[in-house]
Amino acid sequence: MSSLNEITHIDNIKLSEDGKKVIIIDQTKLPNITEYLTLESDKDLYDAILELKVRGAPAIGICAGYGIYILAQQIKAETYDDFYRKFAGYKNYLNSSRPTAVNLSWALNRMEGVVTANKEKSIGDILYLLGEECRAIHEEDIKMCKAISEYGLSLVKDGDGIFTHCNAGPLATSRYGTALGPLFLGKERGLSFKVFADETRPLLQGARLTSYELEKAGIDVTLICDNMASIVMKNGWIKVCFMGCDRIAANGDAANKIGTSGVAILAKYYGIPFYVFGPTSTIDLNCKTGEDIKIELRDPKEIKEKFYKDPMALKEVKCYNPAFDVTDHNLITGIVTEKGICCPPFEASIKALFLKDSRIV
Ligand code: MRU
Repeated sequence: MSSLNEITHIDNIKLSEDGKKVIIIDQTKLPNITEYLTLESDKDLYDAILELKVRGAPAIGICAGYGIYILAQQIKAETYDDFYRKFAGYKNYLNSSRPTAVNLSWALNRMEGVVTANKEKSIGDILYLLGEECRAIHEEDIKMCKAISEYGLSLVKDGDGIFTHCNAGPLATSRYGTALGPLFLGKERGLSFKVFADETRPLLQGARLTSYELEKAGIDVTLICDNMASIVMKNGWIKVCFMGCDRIAANGDAANKIGTSGVAILAKYYGIPFYVFGPTSTIDLNCKTGEDIKIELRDPKEIKEKFYKDPMALKEVKCYNPAFDVTDHNLITGIVTEKGICCPPFEASIKALFLKDSRIV
């Protein structure tokens, strides 16, 4: 297997052979250590999501699907009602691990739908169907990522400079990724790009994960600090920005890793197209605008202490640590999904997307 293939097809989340455990790559250990973790309990799963051992909107959804399946197998219940009550308890617990990426609740709701639609069946049959559903969520994500990557590739040409933030590659999804997918696909087809990845403070997903994935795949990547986006744009090195997303509102406002909206504002200033990439499972029509998207606030220690030997600010200094921000739809050139690229006005183009045939070819 080539190193490109090893990255695009990385086994970041899977069910154990007996189907009773979830196995993930611990993304907090990368790039220096590749370590697999076995998750067995509700707390293992909750902590893995909260602590970003598994992260990236689609990856969280896939993990939650497998997770609720293994937990459902642990339920001891004589009746459907008892089974469902315990299942809903696990579901709510996992769902409370992180609030912003809609793929988490989307996957859990899909799994719950299997339970409620089959209440006449035996618990054994329901468990079988839950197993099928979580595998389907994963399989569909693989197809979605490939389709998104194809659409994204149509936006760039050989030699282009591309800016990306955070990590929207295979580790954050299933295969190829979303915003990074076109770069891997292009590489497979002999194209070369010059990618600028920012570090993505405070948790450094860009430095630890994006530059790792691209470098290993043999793609030209330059790592910059978050405050260097403006200079690389001004230098004329960036043709286009490719970003992932965690939740897209009905009007096209898009929540993504903190710092994304700043990059979008800079891109607008320099006249650089700014594309957001995500599967339709990341679009939340219940959110009319970005105002409705809940933004996760994380431990302030991540700013002051996490990557430092000693705290780099006084103990008494306050920190504000939102994990995401919302990019206004006016700053977005297009939203790249598995069903096509939505252009402004987004309210109409997003609506049209959902009227399309849901099969992916
Ligand atoms: O906090 P994280 O690392 O889970 O945030 C992830 C992002 O913001 C990604 O850009 C997004 O989930 C897209 S993943 C294809």
